[in-house]
Amino acid sequence: MISKVKNKEAKIAVIGLGYVGLPIALEFARKASVIGFDININRVKLLNNNEDPSRELGGEAFEGCDISFTADPNDLSEANVFIIAVPTPIDEAKLPDLKPLLGATANVGKVLKKGDYVIFESTVYPGCTEDDCVPVLEKESGLEFVKDFKVGYSPERINPGDKTHTLQTVIKVVSGCDNESSEEIAELYEMVVTAGVHRAASIKVAEAAKIIENTQRDVNIALINELSIIFGRLGINTYEVLEAAGTKWNFLKFFPGLVGGHCIGVDPYYLTHKAKQVGYHAKIINSGRYVNDSMGFYLGKQTVKKIIAAGVNVMEARVLVLGATFKENVSDIRNSKVVDLIKEMESFAVHVEVMDPHADSDEVFENYGFHLINEAKGVYDAVVVAVNHHDYSNFTDDDFSKWLSPNGIVVDVKGIYRGKVKKFEYLSL
Ligand SMILES: NC(=O)c1ccc[n+]([C@@H]2O[C@H](COP(=O)([O-])OP(=O)(O)OC[C@H]3O[C@@H](n4cnc5c(N)ncnc54)[C@H](O)[C@@H]3O)[C@@H](O)[C@H]2O)c1
Repeated sequence: MISKVKNKEAKIAVIGLGYVGLPIALEFARKASVIGFDININRVKLLNNNEDPSRELGGEAFEGCDISFTADPNDLSEANVFIIAVPTPIDEAKLPDLKPLLGATANVGKVLKKGDYVIFESTVYPGCTEDDCVPVLEKESGLEFVKDFKVGYSPERINPGDKTHTLQTVIKVVSGCDNESSEEIAELYEMVVTAGVHRAASIKVAEAAKIIENTQRDVNIALINELSIIFGRLGINTYEVLEAAGTKWNFLKFFPGLVGGHCIGVDPYYLTHKAKQVGYHAKIINSGRYVNDSMGFYLGKQTVKKIIAAGVNVMEARVLVLGATFKENVSDIRNSKVVDLIKEMESFAVHVEVMDPHADSDEVFENYGFHLINEAKGVYDAVVVAVNHHDYSNFTDDDFSKWLSPNGIVVDVKGIYRGKVKKFEYLSL
């Protein structure tokens, strides 16, 4: 199969062209013939104009690529290798929502032929590929798993907004359903991942490896968030404590903050769901999720307390929030915990205005029911720097003076201005 892909006798189809799928599709398209499929026709239109709808890649990323973009599932029949990179969100009860994944799998199943390969990249719980997706492939195709078609799993480690840890520069974990497929899939990814691949012992091992990478991060950040609540009560600055403790060789480098987005704040729920299915109620992971999910509300409340302590009538208070995205220097607003902070302050009748040069105001309105402002006007009682976008890193007292009343408050969620804010009351995690 790999030799056929290399000499363009066989095509690769990438299903789902978002943050994960598009970079993979374009990277393969430099070496092989690729079909990029997405159910969102508007995305496909933009892609056909060499525009990345996620605004991560520039026009140059499309140059020299052998790729055709389509929203027609029938076009998938020309491919022999299918890479599925669709979302794996959670529902309102925080349970895995496999609808996009199983929908994409069914579309692939309909065009699957003997000898084809299906590789899943979406983040899932251990067992999802073989127990949930393979039956759909068998049912839709009428073919037999392993004998007629092979399946693999290769989790994605890209980090939006990070130009250092990219698809090419980070070792990719790969797995297959037998030795042959494991080797073929490893060779396939070696075509595009300069850093090389790690051959996991099985599909379940590869699935578990991905889910614990993000779960480990979530739990560690939760510990630091909890410490920041304790230190807040003790009147100690968490960043100063971390700086001191960080001088020990084995102290782990994690910082407090809002854990949003569609990975770290979501993936642990896939693992706790699977754990429950096998009779174990995950305690540490669930506690970590609880702490991290509460931080936006905690910060909102702390800000309101400071406003009241400054002698301002909350009903007349105005707060400017800088940053609405789920992390720095990206446009992605999905599962942004800044929204919890805003809603908490609004629940006290505080008037909140939000600016973000990276986020799209219409998208924010569609998802959260408020628009972004382009320009801050008037005097605010607090400025909350919620996301450490590059644009905000050099603010000084003079910048804050343009927005704040003399007894105003700087809320520095990420501890960027520690030791620099002298004229105003200062609050950070
Ligand atoms: N974004 C990241 O940083 C990141 C990193 C590692 C892993 N992941 C995982 O990768 C997967 C994809 O995430 P993403 O961030 O690229 O999502 P995304 O929302 O950016 O993109 C997903 C794309 O899939 C399309 N889609 C949805 N259902 C489809 C279907 N049935 N058929 C075809 N296309 C469909 C959507 O229109 C969208 O364009 C998820 O499982 C995620 O957890 C994401």
